[in-house]
Amino acid sequence: MKHLLSMTDLSHEEIIELLDMAADMKEKRLKGKVTDLLKNKSMGMIFEKSSTRTRVSFEVAMSDLGGHALYLNTRDMQLGRGETVADTAAVLSRYLYCIVARVYSHDTVKELAEHSAVPVVNALSDLEHPCQILADLLTIREYKNRLQGLKYAWIGDGNNVCNSAILGCALVGMEISVACPAGYEPDEDIVEQARKLGGKVTITQDPAEAAKDADILYTDVWISMGDEDEREKRLKELMPYQINSELVDLAMQDVIVMHCLPAHRGEEISADVMDGPHSVVFDQAENRLHAQKALLLKLMC
Ligand code: CP
Ligand code: NVA
Repeated sequence: MKHLLSMTDLSHEEIIELLDMAADMKEKRLKGKVTDLLKNKSMGMIFEKSSTRTRVSFEVAMSDLGGHALYLNTRDMQLGRGETVADTAAVLSRYLYCIVARVYSHDTVKELAEHSAVPVVNALSDLEHPCQILADLLTIREYKNRLQGLKYAWIGDGNNVCNSAILGCALVGMEISVACPAGYEPDEDIVEQARKLGGKVTITQDPAEAAKDADILYTDVWISMGDEDEREKRLKELMPYQINSELVDLAMQDVIVMHCLPAHRGEEISADVMDGPHSVVFDQAENRLHAQKALLLKLMC
């Protein structure tokens, strides 16, 4: 693996290896064991959009591993004043060992990778969010002790996180059922890629059908970064797709409810479910740190 732009940059074996490494990193941190495997290595983090978890977990991951992370907001970079993505990638490659980028267009991470001599990590684009799904797979494995054969139900907007979830499920042998209104379906090419990988992907407009006997119920915000102009329309059309206690009752008794966060209680998830006994959302957020440490070691060592 040279870059992580899409979940498909990882094989089944690489995902399992990363999850094992992440579990090891997690245990070490808990025991207060420090490693400095990335000593004297610096990583740049280009952000076109806001972030809490991704920015902080990557910064802390680098610091825990003895390295250094630079937060690069595009508003403060020459990139924001017309310097090309290609020139930026070439220049940053002369200083850094890795480039993490959160961008609007997926083409931007692709272009960065094309012109970079160091690994590029997609920290969310309009098409995918692979770092989130790595952490989520770690969380699912912690709760269910397996991945293969589970039923994952995505309820709501078939967005960037959903696209990576579809590919992630295919790569680890989980069935995924996506329930969304017409017009909110996940990317067609992604669904096709997942099916080619042997993934069982169902797209339905019926949230009850997706939630039935699910081991995992997952949702994300209805208004992703960049979708703000459609706020009223999205709230109206997605309302029947809220994860609430009625939907939880249709799933397996030990269902885990997941959300990549930030959450909007009363929109994509009801407050009682978000803060209830099935919710594992803060474990997911924590696991961003451990999964990304594993990823950084794999890319930089
Ligand atoms: N889940 C996630 O990527 O959160 P941030 O937008 O806060 O980074
Ligand atoms: N789908 C959301 C995820 C935020 C972490 C967005 O792109 O804004």
